[in-house]
Amino acid sequence: MNSAPLETPPAVHAVRVTGLTKTFGSGDAKTVALKGIDFETREGELHLVVGPSGCGKTTLLSVVAGTLEWDSGSVTVFGQHLNQLSRGAVTAFRGRNIGFIFQQFNLIPTINCVENVSVPLLLGGVHRREAEERAAEMLKRVGLGEKIQARPTSLSGGQQQRVAIARALVHEPRLIICDEPTSALDSVTGHQIMELLAGAARAPGRCVIIVTHDPRTYNFADRITEMEDGRVRSVLAGEAIRSFLTTHR
Ligand SMILES: Nc1ncnc2c1ncn2[C@@H]1O[C@H](COP(=O)(O)OP(=O)(O)O)[C@@H](O)[C@H]1O
Ligand SMILES: [Mg+2]
Repeated sequence: MNSAPLETPPAVHAVRVTGLTKTFGSGDAKTVALKGIDFETREGELHLVVGPSGCGKTTLLSVVAGTLEWDSGSVTVFGQHLNQLSRGAVTAFRGRNIGFIFQQFNLIPTINCVENVSVPLLLGGVHRREAEERAAEMLKRVGLGEKIQARPTSLSGGQQQRVAIARALVHEPRLIICDEPTSALDSVTGHQIMELLAGAARAPGRCVIIVTHDPRTYNFADRITEMEDGRVRSVLAGEAIRSFLTTHR
């Protein structure tokens, strides 16, 4: 009997999207936001998604995060076909595996920062005391140790953004999805946040995907997917990222 040919082992995909389409509205109000997207990201990778406003970046990531239904195509996260899960099962899968930071921070205004950051841990069954200890530690790591008792509404935009980042990281989800995480941050804080996100990405079984317009984030990337008008324009890795950097500074 022939033995199987030797092959390089397949890359471990954190996310695999094929042929994804999504249209909002109908008739005159119809917008085709995604026109057949193929998108892959691997474990251990920090992956940037870039492209002009309106090209479909948030729509793509909302589908991957399991918060938006799509029209056609297949979406797999850590080997799990989201197509095959009920809505309730998607929500449970997201709670266990995905942390996200969307452009609107979605902080709860009536509770303080440490309580906001504790939420994913409490939902995961961690006891309140331990949850608040871990949340306070995470707030220190994003530079907000002084603000753990503050209400989000009393903070600046950049501080609120860091609370949202702490909340997305605190339960160490395997996949972290961020929509413009450094947009409201000064360059020193932005750099710290990118280092934190890169550290979270570069571990077995983990991955971070970031939508960004911010050229300061580009040199942290292992891979860059460039989108344009509902499509993928190019995918860059390695040397190609360096030449992209020189043309987009
Ligand atoms: N909820 C929605 N209803 C109608 N149109 C939408 C909605 N969300 C996004 N769109 C449209 O889909 C296109 C892609 O939007 P989006 O994914 O937010 O782009 P990006 O994040 O790249 O700026 C845009 O034309 C936008 O106006
Ligand atoms: Mg967007």
